[in-house]
Amino acid sequence: MENANNPVSCDQQEEDRNEYSLRPQSFSTYVGQNEMKDNLTVFIASAKKRKESLDHVLLFGPPGLGKTTMANIIAREMACSIRSTSGPVIEKQGDLAAILTSLEPNHVLFIDEIHRMNRVIEEVLYSAMEDYSLDIMIGQGPSARTIKLDLPRFTLIGATTRSGLLSTPLRERFGIPLHFNFYEPQELKEIIIRSAVILDVQIFDEAALEIGKRSRGTPRIANRLLKRARDFADMKTEGVITTEIVGETLFRLGIDVYGLDRLDRKLLKQIIEIHDGGPVGINTIAATVSEEIDTIEEVVEPYLLKSGMIRRTPRGRVVTQKAYQHLESFESKAHL
Ligand SMILES: Nc1ncnc2c1ncn2[C@@H]1O[C@H](COP(=O)(O)OP(=O)(O)OP(=O)(O)O)[C@@H](O)[C@H]1O
Ligand SMILES: [Mg+2]
Repeated sequence: MENANNPVSCDQQEEDRNEYSLRPQSFSTYVGQNEMKDNLTVFIASAKKRKESLDHVLLFGPPGLGKTTMANIIAREMACSIRSTSGPVIEKQGDLAAILTSLEPNHVLFIDEIHRMNRVIEEVLYSAMEDYSLDIMIGQGPSARTIKLDLPRFTLIGATTRSGLLSTPLRERFGIPLHFNFYEPQELKEIIIRSAVILDVQIFDEAALEIGKRSRGTPRIANRLLKRARDFADMKTEGVITTEIVGETLFRLGIDVYGLDRLDRKLLKQIIEIHDGGPVGINTIAATVSEEIDTIEEVVEPYLLKSGMIRRTPRGRVVTQKAYQHLESFESKAHL
């Protein structure tokens, strides 16, 4: 009951419900990642024709680009049900074995954050994925023996923000590895307009494009900024989101023309001021801005690289000329 009185958690639930309702349910409403969708359409049609399960799929890319959404769409297109779990939640080999033995033929098992699964537990997956069988140890000491259990054919879909952290044996057992790209502003505009219809919000085309340009190439952020712009629009323009409203919303949220937020700019500034622009290692960067290394590597760095604000070199990260110019012009405007 505690949660019912806690406004933060109520708000969180509201956001979760919204995110759920904004999730596309089919390839036709899933915007972008066209090459991936085209290939998957062929693989799915072919598996269905052979009446077989789809080969195992690995989805990797930064947070909020649509991995969970895609896993659900794949299951729907295969017309089979999906069981979802997450790497860190599986605590024992037995837990994973129980999940695998309860699967029905051709069904999908979705393991989110698969890179965070314990290596010992992960070994159960090797024979399950390759031979659709499980080796289970019964008893202890000299009388211990292993028995082989047959599993139904199933499709494992793994999602990870860090494919580099996956062990090689596990990575190699996925027949269909798929890499998510950041979205283009035009694609994000399309996503925003679709979300605006679902949320029953009015938005101008240019305003949607402006949010699209400043969402770090990420649909989840685009949807979040749309909701914040709606909040400002509710107060000022009777709910209609104009380009001015978007400008004001993003200004108040500290998001600049490239979509960089305060943490991005802080990171760039610290590398410039403390480390002479680099090269500097990721551990040092994380310590300098007092953030977790994981946050820097998974969330902050990929977009700074993509937008050309930093470069990776063998000796560490280096701030680019573009970042110097951007920070200079941002700061001169901030002083106006
Ligand atoms: N291609 C897309 N078209 C339309 N909306 C999308 C698309 N991809 C993602 N979204 C929206 O962005 C939200 C976040 O997507 P999703 O939860 O699938 O990301 P994720 O990659 O699983 O993130 P995480 O790594 O944090 O788990 C979804 O709720 C959905 O509304
Ligand atoms: Mg997800």
